[in-house]
Amino acid sequence: MNCRKQNKVQDYRNDSFKDTDLQDVDFNDINLTLPPPEEEPARQYFFMAKARQLLLQLEAETGRKLFFHITTLGCQMNARDSEKLRGILKTIGYAECDREEDADFVLYNTCTVRENANNKVYGRLGYLHGYKKKNPHMIIALCGCMMQEEKVVARIRQSYRFVDLIFGTHNIFKFAELIVDTLSEQQMVVDIWEGTQQIVERLPNDRKYPFKSGVNIMFGCNNFCSYCIVPYVRGRERSRRPEEILREIRDFVADGVIEVMLLGQNVNSYGKNLDEPVTFAQLLTEIEKIEGLKRIRFMTSHPKDLSDDLIAVMGRSEKICRHLHLPLQSGSSSLLKVMNRHYTKERYLELVEKIRAAVPDIAITTDIIVGFPGETEADFEETMDVIRRVRFDSAFTFIYSKRTGTPAAAMEDQVPEDVVKRRFDRLLREVQAIAAEKAEALTGKTMDVLVESVNHQDASLVTGRLSNNSVVHLPGDKSLIGRIIEVRLDTCKGFYYYGSAVRE
Ligand code: 5AD
Ligand code: SF4
Repeated sequence: MNCRKQNKVQDYRNDSFKDTDLQDVDFNDINLTLPPPEEEPARQYFFMAKARQLLLQLEAETGRKLFFHITTLGCQMNARDSEKLRGILKTIGYAECDREEDADFVLYNTCTVRENANNKVYGRLGYLHGYKKKNPHMIIALCGCMMQEEKVVARIRQSYRFVDLIFGTHNIFKFAELIVDTLSEQQMVVDIWEGTQQIVERLPNDRKYPFKSGVNIMFGCNNFCSYCIVPYVRGRERSRRPEEILREIRDFVADGVIEVMLLGQNVNSYGKNLDEPVTFAQLLTEIEKIEGLKRIRFMTSHPKDLSDDLIAVMGRSEKICRHLHLPLQSGSSSLLKVMNRHYTKERYLELVEKIRAAVPDIAITTDIIVGFPGETEADFEETMDVIRRVRFDSAFTFIYSKRTGTPAAAMEDQVPEDVVKRRFDRLLREVQAIAAEKAEALTGKTMDVLVESVNHQDASLVTGRLSNNSVVHLPGDKSLIGRIIEVRLDTCKGFYYYGSAVRE
């Protein structure tokens, strides 16, 4: 199906684009004959107006509307970045379409946390070249974590010369300016920054869901876990000012949002680098006061920085969801040391106990890496021991992936692939069995569900989430989307439920 004829809008999307941040900006009032302003965000508003003008010319030349498509790989941070990129593309006049082969502006927001994410992008670029030959107006743009790696950009410059624009994680606020460069130049535009202290507020963003949103509270990471590439590609920790975060959430709530997900690589160290330091617990206390906001989530928490204050706030809170994602990575204290995680197995177990004492109904989920260099059978058994003791509600399990430039990549005794695979399978079986038992224990209970969408497989059902993040399917139609309703959990299917509304 060609999206130029039928641009299907899914049921949860904003039909008409409305940006709460940009209500006061009149793009027709910006004088484009003057040089662009130096300060942000005024400079980007200038380039948005300029890009609008260029796009109108292109539309006149082609005699049709122009479309964009964004593919987002990786984590929630990337998902939120894509909402900002989508906001800018819509502000300058592109419309969104469902299939990238129909788009005039194709953007890949990439991830590089594990090697397989990179391979996916190279694979897709080959296909895109074919589409671009059919549509010479097609612009191909790449951004995100993978683009912060020198060897990636060198490979694209050499082998994928049809790519039009490459930028990284630190300058996505400049997207409008980069689009103007790309539309005005005949050659590949590449703009990668090594790092930044800058946080530019009040730019467009186009939320995927009208009723819930991610909210960045900080960027970057200072932890340098020895396997992880994130600090190299996302830079040092920078916190947004609390007033900006609160303003954004209030605006979202006025626009229909009832659930926020506070985002940061390590939310527990929020605020340490602000001129007037604020703790994450204090920030949460302020967010809790926002009237109309019903649910607060956050991720990710680093066990080394999870404070007693935070646990106390979670225990008292009416709005913080009963879910904590607390990456373990390994249960072996000696491996945790080499991973540079700054906690031991015992400290992790104590922390879990403390959290469960304060918030008894909380679901705890985790991330685990199998096959870190030097992992012995005994180390792996320590991980299995933590799994059995904590009984996680769910766990993301990853096979260790060697990331060039990280300390672990240079470590000797990388674990043989077949050993890793066998351990991974054992771990997964254990994790899934425990998760299913834990989920089953809630069957028959009545709990609040925030309905998020019409079920993708069966249109007579809707799908939503419990406070503890579990997925529930129940009979209903799209009128329920965005509402919190009481649901009886009738049957458990391992890691999700079928339920029925008790009261709407
Ligand atoms: N290999 C495998 N998994 C990794 N993660 C981070 N780096 C790597 C790597 N090199 C996992 C960690 C982290 C999650 C987001 O990704 O478990 O918590
Ligand atoms: Fe990577 Fe560790 Fe930072 Fe998480 S805390 S992003 S695992 S370096």
